[in-house]
Amino acid sequence: MKIAKRVEQLAPSGIRAFFDLVLGMKDVISLGVGEPDFITPWQIREKAISSLEKGYTSYTSNKGMPELRREINTFLGQRYGLSYDYNEEILITVGVSEGLDLAFRAILNPGDKVLIHDPCYVSYAPVVTLAGGEAVMIKTDLSTGFKLTPKVIEAYCTKGVKALMINYPCNPTGTSYTKKELQAIAQIVHKHDLIVISDEVYDELTYDFDHTPFASLKGMKERTIYLNGFSKAYAMTGFRLGWAAGPAEIIAGMTKIHQYTMLCASITAQMAALEALKTGFKDIAIMKREYHRRRNYIVGALNDLGLPCHMPQGAFYVFPSIKKTGMKSMDFAKGLLQSQKVALVPGSAFGENLDDFIRISYASSYDNLKEAIARIKEYLKENRHGKKTKR
Ligand SMILES: Cc1ncc(COP(=O)(O)O)c(C=O)c1O
Repeated sequence: MKIAKRVEQLAPSGIRAFFDLVLGMKDVISLGVGEPDFITPWQIREKAISSLEKGYTSYTSNKGMPELRREINTFLGQRYGLSYDYNEEILITVGVSEGLDLAFRAILNPGDKVLIHDPCYVSYAPVVTLAGGEAVMIKTDLSTGFKLTPKVIEAYCTKGVKALMINYPCNPTGTSYTKKELQAIAQIVHKHDLIVISDEVYDELTYDFDHTPFASLKGMKERTIYLNGFSKAYAMTGFRLGWAAGPAEIIAGMTKIHQYTMLCASITAQMAALEALKTGFKDIAIMKREYHRRRNYIVGALNDLGLPCHMPQGAFYVFPSIKKTGMKSMDFAKGLLQSQKVALVPGSAFGENLDDFIRISYASSYDNLKEAIARIKEYLKENRHGKKTKR
């Protein structure tokens, strides 16, 4: 066997498997992908273009351009009252994706356990496994709006647990936490001496209350690896740019891995990110307003269709239950795709216990969402009347 065992044992992404079916089909409304339907704001693209014209095509410092790290620190100070040493405590990464990989590789010894809320973003458990750790999934459900509670976390704090992975607003549920809820979780984190890896890539897309970074909670900065990036808020997925902020010792460890495996993030993306931080806030406000409008529409429409859907506090996903249809999520998604040409993600892509759910991304135009809801309505009617969907 040529492939390493730990790689062979990794399950392929369920989202990819489903979207391979979508490829080649025409006129599909796709509510599947987790990326903004907006194009990167023009002044950010222009900055990238002009940097190339001026000949900025070299490597940067391994940690990323000092100006960018300084600007991130200024932004965190103004926005959240947080302060890092931008030379020692901030690292520019190739998206939050690389930040996750570096964080786990930097802190885990073989067999160390990481608590992760379930459902969660599909890469967490595989990345922990690849780093030699053990992912321990904590099931959350609709009754708590898919939130982790201090009580549940504490019940999982057994021997060998080193870290807690938390993502809010959450992909796929849109769940977020108030400051008070986070403070209660922080107490457990402190009591059990955990490191927190906090993925806050959707922080700017929080609709019902102010976002609170985990690192801003009392006593948490020194034990939190704070991950964020430019993909979602600034519609910059293709630039592949993120950052990690945390204790100097951990950032130094992450930087060691990063310098040998990645060297540095692209200078063009870093130039663009600098502009995003300086002037992107107006664009974020416009995109956020639109996502918020869509969220309110789609949650109402799904509940009206009889698919119970909790109100997510952030990101651009809804996670309704399809239990009443009696279908498995993959059958529901395949049937809907073939019969009505609407693509969404079956809950099973996020774990076996999530087969009663589907994930819908509302990073698609309002008109598309309206049309998709009309098609889902038709699909539910077909299935209620026992009409076979074209398979
Ligand atoms: C929760 C979460 N974290 C991280 C990522 C990856 O972000 P990036 O583009 O910064 O690598 C995604 C992308 O969908 C995500 O949903």
